[in-house]
Amino acid sequence: MTIVLSQKLLSKVGNTPLIELQSFSNSRVKIYAKLEWFNPFGSIKDRPAYWMLMDAKNKGLLTKDRSIIIEPTSGNTGIALTGISKLLGYKIEIVIPSKVSEETKRILRGLGAELHETTDDLCPRVGVGTDQSISLATAMARARPDTYYMPNQYENDANFRAHYEGTGVEIWNDSENKVTHFIAGGGTGGTLTGVGTYLKEKDPNIKIIAVQPQKNHLIQGLRNYEESSMPLLFKRRSHVIDDWYTITNKESFDTIREIYEKEGLLVGPSSGCVLAAAKKLASSIKEGHIVTIFADDGRKFKSLYVEQNIFNEKEYDDALSKARLLSQLPF
Ligand SMILES: Cc1ncc(COP(=O)(O)O)c(C=O)c1O
Repeated sequence: MTIVLSQKLLSKVGNTPLIELQSFSNSRVKIYAKLEWFNPFGSIKDRPAYWMLMDAKNKGLLTKDRSIIIEPTSGNTGIALTGISKLLGYKIEIVIPSKVSEETKRILRGLGAELHETTDDLCPRVGVGTDQSISLATAMARARPDTYYMPNQYENDANFRAHYEGTGVEIWNDSENKVTHFIAGGGTGGTLTGVGTYLKEKDPNIKIIAVQPQKNHLIQGLRNYEESSMPLLFKRRSHVIDDWYTITNKESFDTIREIYEKEGLLVGPSSGCVLAAAKKLASSIKEGHIVTIFADDGRKFKSLYVEQNIFNEKEYDDALSKARLLSQLPF
């Protein structure tokens, strides 16, 4: 499959809807989710991808005839970088753990990325000798510095700024300044530190809560910081985090099913993980306005959901046809 992209997509990054999850709220504690699959390539990662590439373009680090963008990623950043690179006219190569879902790899190839598969963990790890996809991408970028440009979402401050100047501002405005708790999963830490820094500048009493999946997890895009060290981008501003929750695979998967049954939304794995934590948070406070992030939807995860018995095949297909608020995607 080859996917044809409209230039209009470039102007559609951000400004995603914030909705109340009524079945998980009560009169004193409300839970809201920001539906990040409304970004043009279907996830929260469109934001840092756009900001990192525009930053590199504005600094003159990219040349159309020579530059190849290269990045190690477990999926969403790859899709976002590929879509946006294509729209900006650059070639792209993605270094990806082979365990990432086949659906994700098919989308990446359809959008025109060349893939280099490695045999490491689901989510690239940080730390010497532990991560093959980061090591391979870094080695390739270092070997041909005139050709390759590696945005490096784990260190690039444009990733932080995408959320500090974008996601955080939207949450503050769309919650009409009522947000009391922001709870989200961590990958690079861009979302948590960017939104967290902005919200604490607006009101230092707002609590910022980080969610990590258990060790040996199956939650694409998130990481467990005991088995994989914290990226530099996160470390720079980890002081904004007030509290942590660790969520098991089972809790995440049960919550994915619950979100479909109660709210009619077919969400990605990390949304199950963060809502499982948001429910625990909600039951520990008397009053509050909790905002969380649904980073992507369930469209890329049929094989995982069937394998993990979250839905059987027929139930998944049925959920996909009935799910509410799915956005239009180019793939
Ligand atoms: C699928 C997915 N990817 C990435 C992220 C966050 O990533 P980062 O910490 O890199 O901003 C999240 C968290 O919300 C996520 O759910």
